[in-house]
Amino acid sequence: MNVLITGHSSGIGAGLTKVLLAAGNHVLGLSKSRGAETHPNLYQENVDLQNESEVSSALSRLVYEKLKKPDLIFLNAGVLGPIASLQDTKSEELQYVMQINVWANKVILDWFLNHKLSPAQIITISSGAAIRGNFGWSSYALSKSTLNMLTQLYAHEFKNSHLLALAPGYVDTKMQSVLRTKSSSKFPSLKSLHQAHGTAHMPSPETIAYKIINNLAEFKKLKSGSYFDLRTTKSSG
Ligand SMILES: NC(=O)c1ccc[n+]([C@@H]2O[C@H](COP(=O)([O-])OP(=O)(O)OC[C@H]3O[C@@H](n4cnc5c(N)ncnc54)[C@H](OP(=O)(O)O)[C@@H]3O)[C@@H](O)[C@H]2O)c1
Repeated sequence: MNVLITGHSSGIGAGLTKVLLAAGNHVLGLSKSRGAETHPNLYQENVDLQNESEVSSALSRLVYEKLKKPDLIFLNAGVLGPIASLQDTKSEELQYVMQINVWANKVILDWFLNHKLSPAQIITISSGAAIRGNFGWSSYALSKSTLNMLTQLYAHEFKNSHLLALAPGYVDTKMQSVLRTKSSSKFPSLKSLHQAHGTAHMPSPETIAYKIINNLAEFKKLKSGSYFDLRTTKSSG
């Protein structure tokens, strides 16, 4: 299988890359920086997802020069943005988070539609923050709830692909280490994720990658465009 992964350089994306390569797949990775992984079946492009024309050129190089048409796409790259009240969140901070977490995915999905390519499965990496509306998750929560709707809307346009917005649950990544620097007395919802660190409630990126990959067929039974929380799956993968 050929798999396109955005944000393959670290965290969940790096976990997916490692596990997929080990299983004999080809991975097309799109991140700002180079990942640590080196493998003959890993093709990397390093672009800033803010730059829409660079994203399109990188996709053309990955798909046409490397001749790897993806069967599966993970739109995983994401940023946290400030943990702050909405009032204290500047519009440019909101716009940056929306650009990376939402609009960059539109650029990628439009590229596939424009090139008449229909990967069998497209998974956008969402978050429980998309639906919880907890104090302080401002730009991140807005971006992930918009990502859920983006996924639902594109399900109408990708007639031959299955789309899913997948919340992975807590995963021990750089994003979580940033969240541990934020005050849970000011933002009470952070308490549970601070407590989860170092326990089975916050698995490693590789553990989550296995769980995602082992459930790919199950995901396809859901309505295309749905939102699904991986923590509700019975299979630990
Ligand atoms: N960790 C969790 O508990 C958790 C929970 C729910 C959802 N998620 C979601 O899971 C996804 C992955 O997050 P993570 O926890 O693995 O975080 P991470 O370790 O910080 O990884 C984020 C990835 O996104 C890439 N990225 C960010 N900004 C970029 C940009 N402007 N251009 C290109 N690439 C960019 C990063 O590449 P560079 O390092 O090269 O910038 C990196 O590969 C995100 O969508 C996040 O919202 C995570």
